[in-house]
Amino acid sequence: MTFQEKKELIDKLKDTQSLEKEEWVSIIKERDDEIAQYLFKEARAVADKYYGRQVFLRGLIEFTNICKNDCYYCGIRRSNSNCERYRLTDEQILQCCEVGYSIGYKTFVLQGGEDGMNTADRISNLIRMIKSKYPDVALTLSIGERTKEEYQQWYDAGADRYLLRHETASDEHYRKLHPESLSLANRKQCLYNLKEIGYQIGTGFMVGSPYQTENEIAEDFLFIKELQPHMLGIGPFIPHHDTQFKDEPAGTLELTLFCIGLLRLMMPQALIPATTALGTIAPNGRELGIQAGANVIMPNLSPVETREKYLLYDNKICLGEEAATCVGCLKKRVESIGFEVAESRGDHVSFKSDTSSVS
Ligand code: 5AD
Ligand code: FES
Repeated sequence: MTFQEKKELIDKLKDTQSLEKEEWVSIIKERDDEIAQYLFKEARAVADKYYGRQVFLRGLIEFTNICKNDCYYCGIRRSNSNCERYRLTDEQILQCCEVGYSIGYKTFVLQGGEDGMNTADRISNLIRMIKSKYPDVALTLSIGERTKEEYQQWYDAGADRYLLRHETASDEHYRKLHPESLSLANRKQCLYNLKEIGYQIGTGFMVGSPYQTENEIAEDFLFIKELQPHMLGIGPFIPHHDTQFKDEPAGTLELTLFCIGLLRLMMPQALIPATTALGTIAPNGRELGIQAGANVIMPNLSPVETREKYLLYDNKICLGEEAATCVGCLKKRVESIGFEVAESRGDHVSFKSDTSSVS
């Protein structure tokens, strides 16, 4: 393809927010630095139009690394006996919120493995405690696949958002990354249930996971288009030394950035994080993610003592004492590229409760 032909595809995506399957495959296959620069410029212009040069922070509380699942790529999978398990108490979780709130976070994300301790009632109680103490924050859950009734119960208790990456939208690929007990159909159903209940939902996939080709990524884009989530989290696959994928190559910075740019053009109003995994494969990965169209960062708010136990992949950043809150570091990083950390809770523009972030 000539540059002109690639540019036409990017322009079509920008103008119509969609591409055909073969077009997705070819733009990904034929990408080069020149078209990437054009894409990033257009993607950033679209992000600026809806959210300005603001970056929203989401304080991530990794409250349990106990998980009943055995996803082949994940460092906290059930069968990893080298993983030292922990679970935060309600008091410890509230303590994280207190620290986070005092330094200005307006969104907390409770993320954890699929831990049997996460009964529907425990989670509801936690939600009520957090929302009564901090009524102005947005509360996000990221605790895996549950029944629609449980999702509804948590929504009624005050949860606002839910993150559940689909991981890959191809059934065949899904099978290669997960044991028989997990199914893509169920995961997709969970996402539709969450959306129907009224959550702001986030989904996403790993870039460069084993067996992924342009074809799988094209499927991911088509699925995302159909689901219309509010948030989109993508990051490079990074091998974990205690998994069967330990010798597989990591996803690249270059392809991850390219996908962020494409996602921004397909979903102009989405909240797209520059993920920790992106910051792990390159020291300035998150900054580059923002410049490619991302507008969210999810700093770690977990207690420093447990951070090194929540290792989904190797070499994860922000584990040390010096990263206790990340907030100073991030402010500097965000400002160094000409952006600012937003003070609002950063709702999707279609949710009315937070109009301050809409330009
Ligand atoms: N590399 C990158 N991302 C991973 N995740 C899990 N394991 C890895 C890995 N080895 C991602 C999954 C999950 C999210 C919480 O972390 O996409 O949904
Ligand atoms: Fe965590 Fe920089 S963002 S230390």
